[in-house]
Formats: sequence, C-alpha cells, structure tokens
Amino acid sequence: MSTLVTGIGHLATQDDELGELTNAALVIEGGCIGWIGAAIDAPDCDEQVHLGSRAVIPGFVDSHAHLVFAGDRTAEFAARMSGQAYAAGGIRTTVAATRAASTDSLRANVRRLSQELLRAGVTTFECKSGYGLDVATEQRSLQIAEEFTDETTFLGAHVIPADASDPAAYVELVCGDMLTACAPHARWIDVFCDRGAFDAEQARTIIAAGQGAGLTPRLHANQLEPGPGIQLAVEMGAASADHCTHLSPADIDALANSNTVATLLPLAEFSTRAIYPDARRLLDAGVRVALATDCNPGSAYSTSMPLAIAIAVRDMRMTPAEALFAATVGGANALQRDDIGRLAVGRRADFTVLNAPSYVHLAYRPGVPLIEHVWRNGEQVWPAPAED
Ligand code: NIG
Ligand code: FE
Repeated sequence: MSTLVTGIGHLATQDDELGELTNAALVIEGGCIGWIGAAIDAPDCDEQVHLGSRAVIPGFVDSHAHLVFAGDRTAEFAARMSGQAYAAGGIRTTVAATRAASTDSLRANVRRLSQELLRAGVTTFECKSGYGLDVATEQRSLQIAEEFTDETTFLGAHVIPADASDPAAYVELVCGDMLTACAPHARWIDVFCDRGAFDAEQARTIIAAGQGAGLTPRLHANQLEPGPGIQLAVEMGAASADHCTHLSPADIDALANSNTVATLLPLAEFSTRAIYPDARRLLDAGVRVALATDCNPGSAYSTSMPLAIAIAVRDMRMTPAEALFAATVGGANALQRDDIGRLAVGRRADFTVLNAPSYVHLAYRPGVPLIEHVWRNGEQVWPAPAED
C-alpha cells in the first residue's frame, strides 16, 4: 500500500541534500517516506492526497516536557505576573497534588496534554517524572508516561521534597530504591541542577548512578542563575543541557566542543518573565541547538511549539529556518534519534501540513492556529480521520 501526498506548495525537508522544495510530493510506504521530490516526477501510488499548495514540515520533536502531574499553579502564575520571582520551591505544590491523585486522573492528564501536543504539530515528545519524589509515585508516573511515549525520563532529582529528612538521605534514596523502581520504565535520567534544587556534587552522584542503571543523562542546567550545570552536562556526556538561560563563555565553549545539545525552552522564560537564552551566540559558536516546550504546570504551561518558534525568532534572533531546524532535527538530536526530525527516504513519515504557504508563517503569524493536519507513521492522526 503506497500513498502519494502531492500538491505540497512548500516542503521543508530539513534534509541536507533536499533542503526546501516547491511544488513537491512525497510517497508513504510502510509508515516511512518511500520517495520525495518534485510533484511532476512523482510515481503512481495506490492512493493520492492533494494538499492544495499548503506547506509541509517534519513533525516537531518536543524533547523536554513534564506531563505527569495533577492540579495547576494559577495562583503562583498570577502572583508572578504581579512581580513575584519564579522559584524552584513551587514544584512542591504540584508534588502534593500529584501524590494525592489517582492513576486514572494522572493518565487522563497526560492523554489530554499529548493530544494538545499533537494538535500543535508535535509527533514525538519526551516526558519526565519529577512530581512524585517518592518511590511509588515516581514509578507510577513513569509507568503512565511510557503508555504514551518511548522517550521517558526519570527526574526523581527535581527538588528535595518537603518530607525528606535531609538532602543527603534524599540523594541516597534517588540513587537507590527509587532508581531501581524507575529505571525499567525510563530511557533517560535528569537532574535539576540549579538554585533551590541540586548542586553539582549531588547532581554528579545521581547522574553516575543513573548511568550505572543504563540510563543516559540530560540535565536541567543554568535556568535560574549562572552555575556548573552546563559544564557538568558536557563532562558527563549528557544528550542535552536544557534551559541554558544563563551562559558564560566557558559554557558555550564546552557545548561547542561536545555532542551535548543545548535545548532552549523559551516558553519558560516567557511565563516566568525571565531573560531569554542567547541563542545567537550558541549558534554562531557551532553549538547544536534544540527548541522544546518544557510543558509543565509551574514555569511553562504551554504545548505550543509554534509559539516557542515565534519567540525564538522574535526575541532570540534565530532565523525562521534555524528555529524550525531546532524544533525538528534539534529535538531529534537531543533525543539521539535519527529516524525522525527530517523528511527523507527511509525516515518516518511524521509531518505536519500548515494552512500557510511556508513554515516562515509560524513566526510571521504568531498565535494563529496554522497546523491543519498532522501525520505520524504515515497515517493522518490529527484531526482524527472520520470513521467509516
Ligand atoms: O523545567 N526547572 C525545573 N523544572 C521545570 C519547572 C517545574 C515547575 O515549576 O513545576 C522547568 O522549568
Ligand atoms: Fe523542565
């Protein structure tokens, strides 16, 4: 069974060889791209879909999201907009609500947010634990997350919970019983290495334990203040250093000389009214950059990759092409995946149809719902096709 998708006005493949095509078409076979090129050269297929000159981009890869939680933090957000600063301690409010929530209600919340992500054009997302902070709730969080994605991350080291006897005992718990219960349900380990959370020594201990259990690290680093997180991420061979809001020249050098991706999360700076990371300096230094949502109830309660792109272009001086690349290939790099992020023969047929003539409109028309259809594994998944 083959499907020809034609009438593509503008196709951003993100592939080195093909780049951007106009009047393009692609063929889907077995969930992957079987052929891609000029519409006029397209082969015959079993069925055909005509897109009426709309633009097509690869599905977004959201490499940083915290979706397993209960409750919200409306009051904290309102207080912040009246001048209060964001602090890591707010996480404990969500921990209390998450521990008290039923598994069904936590699952329903992840389902709701994963649908929101899909409607925003996201075809692959990462999902962290980190609002349980006890063995049972962290494990339960990851068991729910793995129902929705393969990219699950153990974040038992989000903050030290209110009921911990002392920080050292909590670090021991995270590296011991909690890791044992969580590792079978996670691919990644993350630590929030920042003011009010974990210091470099604690983070190093936790990451090493995670690596010992077969998990690959990714780190929350340098969100709230300058610090050791980014260089620690590089030193430990992390797949990505996330936030990178506060960057020193040594941080940029370390990233530029590594395979660690700098994952920028502008929706967090937007919703905490913080400065944006210096994406320009990172890109000019040759650092590999990803853009992700950071969707969570505290610092960034948004699933909108298009809004993240618009901010990256407007306020972080990324070009529209750089922002699209970071939201697709960048996310795939941050998740160490090469089957997604680009549209090329043999890659997964994960793509988004925009009600626009090109991807530039994602930034040019901020806040406008341009995502018309989303395809994953060669099937249209949003809007869900009507049942026969
Ligand atoms: O990435 N910084 C740490 N974790 C989240 C925020 C969590 C929260 O405030 O609930 C973040 O911004
Ligand atoms: Fe985060």
